[in-house]
Amino acid sequence: MTSLPLPTDRPRRLRGSGPLRRLVAEHRLAAADLILPVFLAEEATEPRPIASMPGVVQHTEDSLRAAAQEAAAAGVGGIMLFGVPATKDAVGSAATDPAGIANRGLALLREEVGEDLVVISDLCLDEFTDHGHCGLLAADGTVDNDATLERYAEMALVQHEAGAHVLGLSGMMDGQVAACRAALDGAGATGTAILSYSAKYASAFYGPFREAVDSQLRGDRRAYQMDPANRAEGTREALLDVEQGADIVMVKPALGYLDVLSDVAASVDIPVAAYQVSGELAMVEAAAANGWLDRRRTITESLTSIRRAGASIIATYWATEVARWLAEGE
Ligand code: PBG
Repeated sequence: MTSLPLPTDRPRRLRGSGPLRRLVAEHRLAAADLILPVFLAEEATEPRPIASMPGVVQHTEDSLRAAAQEAAAAGVGGIMLFGVPATKDAVGSAATDPAGIANRGLALLREEVGEDLVVISDLCLDEFTDHGHCGLLAADGTVDNDATLERYAEMALVQHEAGAHVLGLSGMMDGQVAACRAALDGAGATGTAILSYSAKYASAFYGPFREAVDSQLRGDRRAYQMDPANRAEGTREALLDVEQGADIVMVKPALGYLDVLSDVAASVDIPVAAYQVSGELAMVEAAAANGWLDRRRTITESLTSIRRAGASIIATYWATEVARWLAEGE
C-alpha cells in the first residue's frame, strides 16, 4: 500500500482553540462602529411593537430617551432617528417644521446623549409624504429630482438647527449631497457632516421598515433607487458623492450587497458604512423564533461578514444588544 503524502501546509494549526482563533482573527466587531436606527412616533403614548421587526418599537419621547441612554451605556457609536409624523401631505411639510416629530426627536437626542453618541438624522421625505415617495411628485406622478433638492436643502438646515451631528441623506436624488452641503455651508454649518446613502438599492428587504414608518407608498422606488442587478454603478454613485462633499458613504442593504460594499471600500478614502436593513433583521428573527437558526451566532456572523466586506461603520437594529455581547468578551 502506498503511503499517502502528508500535508506540508496546515492552516488548521491556527484554528485549534478559542484564544488562537481570536488572536489571528482578521476582522473584529466593535461597539463604537455600530449605529442604532430608532423610530419616534408622534402619536405613540407607549412604545408600539412593530410586528414585522421583532424587538423593535415605535418609541415615545420617554422610551426613546431610555433607549438612547442604554445604547450610550453599551458603547454604541451612533443613533439614527426616523420620525413617524401624525399627519402627512404631498410635500412632506412636517419634515421642515422645527416642531415636527423628527426634528423634535433630534433635539431630544442631542440633549440626552449628544456628548456620547453621534446623532444622525434621516434626510428624506418618504416618512412625511402622503404618497410615500422620497421626493416631490411632478404632474405626471414621477419624482421630480430637482424640485426635491430644494426641499432636501431646507431639511438640511432644519436638522442642523435641531442638533444633528450628521445628516443621513437617504433619498437617492441626483445631486443631493452637493445641494445639502451648499445649504449647510451657506448657513455657516460647516461642521455638520453628511453620511450619504450612496449605493441604495430598490430592495424588497425594506418591507418591514414600511410598517415601522407607517409608509403610504403604493408602487415602488425603482425609478430612483438602484437596480439590484448593477454592481459597477454602486462605485460610480459613491464616487459622485465623494466629489460632492460626502463625509461618509453607505451601501444598503448590507448582506445581499457585500460585493458592492467591497468595491466601494476599495474605491474611496473616506469611511464606508453599511445598513443591515429591516428585512435582514426580520429573516433572522423569524428563523430563530422557529428554532431554525442560532440567533446570536447568526447575528454575529452576519455583522462580521459585513465588516469583512469592508464596512467600517454598520447600522443595525441589534446595535445595543451586540454591543453588550462584545462587552462580555465575544
Ligand atoms: C427612506 C429609508 C428607507 C429605509 C431607510 N430609509 C426605506 C426605503 O427606502 O424604502 C429602510 C431601512 C430598513 O429597511 O431598515 N427614508
